[in-house]
Amino acid sequence: MTLSLLINGSPHQVDAAPDMPLLYVLRDHLGLNGAKYGCGMGQCGACTVQIDGRAAYSCITPAAAVQGRRVTTIEGLSAKDGALSPLQHRFSPRR
Ligand code: FES
Repeated sequence: MTLSLLINGSPHQVDAAPDMPLLYVLRDHLGLNGAKYGCGMGQCGACTVQIDGRAAYSCITPAAAVQGRRVTTIEGLSAKDGALSPLQHRFSPRR
């Protein structure tokens, strides 16, 4: 199935099973590795993204469920000039 996703403000067409976790689509199809696999059960928060501005666990969110919604990953918090957001800066070992 081709999924139409809006990730970090950019549209993407992804061939994936509709029940594939959003986390796998982000990491394996789009190369966005900021969201991590931790527990895979919605308990640890390592996979957290924003969906329409609200925090969500991408490991338990089917990719098809976010079609037509805005998904923001940690990578999407950067300014257009590439500058780190305050949150990204806090995670950076180079600060
Ligand atoms: S990997 Fe732990 S909540 Fe998603």
